[in-house]
Amino acid sequence: MTTTPPTQSITRAIRGRVLHFLRDPQFHDDAYQYWEDGVLIVTAGHIAAAGDYTALAAQIPAGAEVIDHRGKLILPGFIDTHVHYPQTDIIASPSPGLLHWLETYTFPEERRFAEPEYAAAVAGFFADELLRNGTTSAVAWSTVHTASADALFAEADRRNLRLVTGKVLMDRNCPEFLRDTAESGARDSADLISRWHGKNRLSYAITPRFAPTSSDAQLAACGELARAYPDAFIQTHVAENRDEVKWVAELFPQARSYLDIYDHYGLLRPGALYGHAIYLDQDDRKRLADSGAAVAHCPTSNLFLGSGFYDFHQSDAHRLNVTLATDVGGGTSFSMLRTMNAAHKVARMGGYHLSALRMFYLATRAAADALGWSERVGSFTPGCEADFIVLDPQATPLIARRSERSETLEEQLFAFAMLGDDRVIGNVYVMGEAAGASAPAAH
Ligand code: GUN
Ligand code: ZN
Repeated sequence: MTTTPPTQSITRAIRGRVLHFLRDPQFHDDAYQYWEDGVLIVTAGHIAAAGDYTALAAQIPAGAEVIDHRGKLILPGFIDTHVHYPQTDIIASPSPGLLHWLETYTFPEERRFAEPEYAAAVAGFFADELLRNGTTSAVAWSTVHTASADALFAEADRRNLRLVTGKVLMDRNCPEFLRDTAESGARDSADLISRWHGKNRLSYAITPRFAPTSSDAQLAACGELARAYPDAFIQTHVAENRDEVKWVAELFPQARSYLDIYDHYGLLRPGALYGHAIYLDQDDRKRLADSGAAVAHCPTSNLFLGSGFYDFHQSDAHRLNVTLATDVGGGTSFSMLRTMNAAHKVARMGGYHLSALRMFYLATRAAADALGWSERVGSFTPGCEADFIVLDPQATPLIARRSERSETLEEQLFAFAMLGDDRVIGNVYVMGEAAGASAPAAH
């Protein structure tokens, strides 16, 4: 499943039910645009226009290729903000909880990524699996090995994915075979930044695994890297699991909270993504919101590992920048639709109604905004890169029946979120080019 970057100013018009988000539907009435008979006009891999077909038909150039997806829903490609590619092959490994799961499955598997050929093979599968699930952008984790990050960058680049990754930094409390040092980790990160950050659609994330596996010296080095590379992303885990939070309190007795450790080292800022963020207090939430950092909410993982329930009431009260993530392989699916399913149920357990409109916003525009990419991906704003997916309301007999009954856009989206998975993703386009499944014949 590879795509070729567009080399000429080819124009395509893609017709179907077109939906995208401008802002958060939880807080705004005019949050999205939806055209029942809509069209995307794509030139040289970028959105030229999006709107009602009849209104825009005159703008479609005579020689344009017209692709007919009428009846299907065209959305911006999904953005998964936290996913571990080296855990692809240990997805669905049974365990009583996070720390046992890391020791038993994760660390032994991550050891294998020292081998560039192994890393490349998994990275290729991973990138295809993202695309098959309609995920055209991801913030992904590699392992401690630079070769693992090189492999994923290379495979993402071959498919022209918009992808962020970084080598994991960990210099203590993990097996010897996965350790770097504060110095080597910083040096390797800087090397990777110079090789990949800003190349085509690739970006780098400074990636301390979580506070327990980094010494103070390493966290300080992360802060220095963050200062040296102000446009690099930052990713880590925070307050995911009760045992982990207890351990962190023992390791960092001087810290006010788990989040405060990262804050102390200058790791809270726009473009920083905090995975899980379940066990936060009000001061943490206020600080997260003020800093411009974002949360990667990982509901299938939180359920699977029994980690806990993300609190949407509190999150909204503080206007946290929340995004949705699969967290494979703690998470149990690459599908952002399956992830929405879990997110909705987790929210329900907290007495919160997470609407389908909100979930599709979280999986597209919210993530783009959190990453500073609102002019690049996540919506059909003219000038954006034309990453989009086509969802099929007839994908399965049951989804077809439920879609038939849907009276509102919310109901249709909710059916996709509750019943859907990769089977619903009919077509995937990366910068205007069909990836994988072929587009229907032109009309
Ligand atoms: N905390 C530290 N490492 C990991 C990881 O790989 N997955 C999850 N879910 N939590 C972590
Ligand atoms: Zn994770």
